[in-house]
Amino acid sequence: MNNHKLAKLLKARSLEIYTPSSPINNETFFQGRKRELKCITENLSMAGKHIIIFGDRGVGKTSLLNIATKNKNSFIYRCSTGDNFKTIFLEFLKNIGAHKIESKSVRRGSVKGKAGVNVKVLSIEGEKGRTLEIEYRGAAEQKLTPHFITAAFQDKDIILALDEFERLNNPKTKKMLAEVIKKFSDAGAKTKIMIVGIGDSIMDLIGEHKSIVRNIQQVKLDRLSEEEIVSIARSGEKILKITFEKEVIEMIIDYSDRFPHFAHLLSLGCIDSVANRIEREEGPFDKVTAGDFFPHALDYAVGMIEESLGNNYLKAIRSEQGSPIFKHILWACALDVRTEVHIKDIRIAVCRLQKRNVKKAEFVYPSGTLVKEKRSKILRKTSRGYYKFSNPMMKAYVRIALGKDNPHAEINGYLGKADMRLKTIRAALKLQKPDAPTGA
Ligand SMILES: Nc1ncnc2c1ncn2[C@@H]1O[C@H](COP(=O)(O)OP(=O)(O)O)[C@@H](O)[C@H]1O
Ligand SMILES: [Mg+2]
Repeated sequence: MNNHKLAKLLKARSLEIYTPSSPINNETFFQGRKRELKCITENLSMAGKHIIIFGDRGVGKTSLLNIATKNKNSFIYRCSTGDNFKTIFLEFLKNIGAHKIESKSVRRGSVKGKAGVNVKVLSIEGEKGRTLEIEYRGAAEQKLTPHFITAAFQDKDIILALDEFERLNNPKTKKMLAEVIKKFSDAGAKTKIMIVGIGDSIMDLIGEHKSIVRNIQQVKLDRLSEEEIVSIARSGEKILKITFEKEVIEMIIDYSDRFPHFAHLLSLGCIDSVANRIEREEGPFDKVTAGDFFPHALDYAVGMIEESLGNNYLKAIRSEQGSPIFKHILWACALDVRTEVHIKDIRIAVCRLQKRNVKKAEFVYPSGTLVKEKRSKILRKTSRGYYKFSNPMMKAYVRIALGKDNPHAEINGYLGKADMRLKTIRAALKLQKPDAPTGA
């Protein structure tokens, strides 16, 4: 095979393994999460238990949902802003074969010439001509009530999953869903509800519905462990017949901030670099080495990262006067291993980056505006003097952006030589152990 073809094949294969922009669907490429999967499986077989998966954006909630429901009778509905109880459950109903749902009046209880009474029923015509009729009272538009849903589903052995639940903004929908969960649990229904969405707690997603808390198993999803990030990077090694040097693996862990999205992206970037060099007749290669391939991986990642992260970063650092202070504040926050960074430590880092004493007064304005709309609210003030990135994924983005600039730009001047390892940059800036600014 010629080099052009080889490079093309390598790129195509790597795109099947590393999937930065889509949730995992194939168990082969799903790393770790053993504890969470076990917990979900156990609770799915427990009567009256339903499940809620919550965590930051991009930690792997949808992937976990996909794998946990694989080979089970399940239906995943992706919520959108305009959804309500009816739009969601009509989809669920269709999924159990209810292709015709109508309300009609039928006469019940007529015996021996007695007239009986007219009752309204909702009739769901199923696939095999089976019709399910459920009585209801009240207006027809209110027919899809939690009561009705419970009756329609309770003997169905199915998992009804609602992904991107945070998009629902109608409290009434959440209240009705909570009622369904309660009714399912009380009736010992086989149907299971799984709620998946962004949040720090169950409260963020379903609000104050204390009555159902004991019916719901909470699965809080954190970022991946270092080992799981390593598994992502290494998942392509056998198939692609290329190994990642230890240093590259360490950099993927550090740059990705343990977000799987960035681990996929940087691994892909490494392979893209290998493929480009094979195409330029510089190969063959059986090892991804840091110096040769990682600079391109950083470039590749910046170019491929979702636009909103990049745009928000650019909006935050732009400066009419060409001052690098906004960028340096963000770099200081990104290099720090702590989630929340104190303004004093940020200043120390900026002083080191600028090799001068940046006065306190120079700091007040820029750090204050980084929490404002005009700088895309990139930072958030948490408590007195502490800052963090509003979007947890931003930290990894800024790390990658600064890493990309590093070999050619200001930190390089400081270090005296190009080194992309964040570890080296931190050490050079003495950020591991912050102390007083020099030259104060
Ligand atoms: N356990 C995992 N193993 C490997 N890759 C994962 C895993 N979990 C998530 N990913 C990857 O991380 C990215 C984000 O995953 P996703 O499930 O969409 O997150 P969320 O739903 O929390 O936003 C995707 O690129 C996905 O392929
Ligand atoms: Mg998702």
